[in-house]
Amino acid sequence: MANNITYKEFSDENNYTALSAEVMSIRARGNSPMACIRTYGCQQNVADSEKIKGMLFDMGFGFTENAEDADFILFNTCAVREHAEDRVFGNVGALKNIKRKHPSVLIGLCGCMMEQQHVTDRLYKSFPFVGLVFGTHSLHKFPELFYNAITAGKRVYETGVDDKTVYEGIPIKRDGTFKGWLPIMYGCNNFCTYCIVPYTRGRERSRKFDDVVNEAKQMINAGYKDITLLGQNVNSYGKNFEEKVTFAQLLSEIDKIEGDYWIRFMTSHPKDCSKELIDVIAGSKHISSHLHLPFQSGNDRVLKAMNRSYNREKYLDIINYAKEKIPDLSLTSDIIVGFPGETYEEFLDTVTLVKEVEFTSLFTFIYSPREGTPAAKFDDPYSAAEKSKWFQELLKVQEEIAAKRCASMVGKTVKILVEGKTDKDGILTGRTSGNIIVDFPGEENIIGEFAYVKITKARNWILNGELV
Ligand code: SAH
Ligand code: SF4
Ligand code: F3S
Repeated sequence: MANNITYKEFSDENNYTALSAEVMSIRARGNSPMACIRTYGCQQNVADSEKIKGMLFDMGFGFTENAEDADFILFNTCAVREHAEDRVFGNVGALKNIKRKHPSVLIGLCGCMMEQQHVTDRLYKSFPFVGLVFGTHSLHKFPELFYNAITAGKRVYETGVDDKTVYEGIPIKRDGTFKGWLPIMYGCNNFCTYCIVPYTRGRERSRKFDDVVNEAKQMINAGYKDITLLGQNVNSYGKNFEEKVTFAQLLSEIDKIEGDYWIRFMTSHPKDCSKELIDVIAGSKHISSHLHLPFQSGNDRVLKAMNRSYNREKYLDIINYAKEKIPDLSLTSDIIVGFPGETYEEFLDTVTLVKEVEFTSLFTFIYSPREGTPAAKFDDPYSAAEKSKWFQELLKVQEEIAAKRCASMVGKTVKILVEGKTDKDGILTGRTSGNIIVDFPGEENIIGEFAYVKITKARNWILNGELV
């Protein structure tokens, strides 16, 4: 069915899960072994952590938020910006004391940072108390790697092998009971010049159509009400298949599943975001009125230097088509400020695009050079202080837009998914299909259910409402 990509069922032939369970029951400090898993980065990492927890659960582990109580501490790391990496190094450093106090504790690191040679070299040299290191391509080998790390008496490092394989059937322990992540593809082939992800996650590979649809069915039957389909570029879903399938077709197949639920997806890439996809959303029953479509920059020269393969006009064309077809559409985006060589005038093209589209919310980042990416070698003449000033300017523009958008919702009645309590007594919080937060008074027994609320007030980007 697919070319270049191999599909395999997860298997634990050598029974590492059972062997680890035996060893850990002896090593554990409490009645049963405890794991503390901390996840950095994007939903892709969150979904990976849910698989690691699934495997650990089968080994008899319980879970704790407190590293002090854990027999196994694992950080699932992100490499997308320098700040994310610095946080990990800082927090790993702090684990040294725990290891000193409880030498039986195993400290591990996994995720995107571990697929960078300079990172693992530094860890090996400077963090000898880290006993297990594995990259994004070794997730399916976790039971074996874990067993080796707790029995071999030496550090286990397993990184850098992209075997271009999709592993199905890895156990999953999901964090949520009504909101869940559903990866539909892994990796990325786009090589945007600033981005480390293609290096840390390998080549793009889609899960098989039926595997995705069946998992969606299972989740909906299990009571999940808000399911996000995940991929770095969901619009290129199915491109590695011999028999052509589009992301729009996958969405419309999932939309046919009976039940009361919402489907979301992220991330869409403007270069592959088709009108067919917009038509499917417009005509669907369950696909949320929310499109996260990162444009990164509003200037054509910068977009070209970023290797984004679309221009401002094409982006606005798809946005305007989507607005026309889906009148209550909520749009969100990612933006990079201060890409190497971006001038103030070019940055202003980003500001005018933000004003023109009127996004619900934005994820705005200051460019961070990533070792090994082309842009890290580009001339970068503008200072951090300057970039930070532009960044603030953009935030201010977006704040006004978000406030205006929220204010326009006052008086309307909207369907929301009730997500939990707020810190205020008796006040619950939920989200609209467009991903806007609504706080309202209510009883806890409706958490995890859909409800209708009338919007009474707007506070910048959060709404207040009353149950109807
Ligand atoms: N695949 C997604 C994005 C994944 S990374 C997409 O293409 O939209 C999430 C966001 O991080 C990106 O959209 C981008 O805005 C930001 N980002 C990625 N690399 C960055 C870098 N080197 N510096 C600053 N922001 C970056
Ligand atoms: Fe990175 Fe671009 Fe791939 Fe997104 S599409 S993950 S920004 S390389
Ligand atoms: Fe970070 Fe890796 Fe996601 S680098 S943003 S965790 S794909």
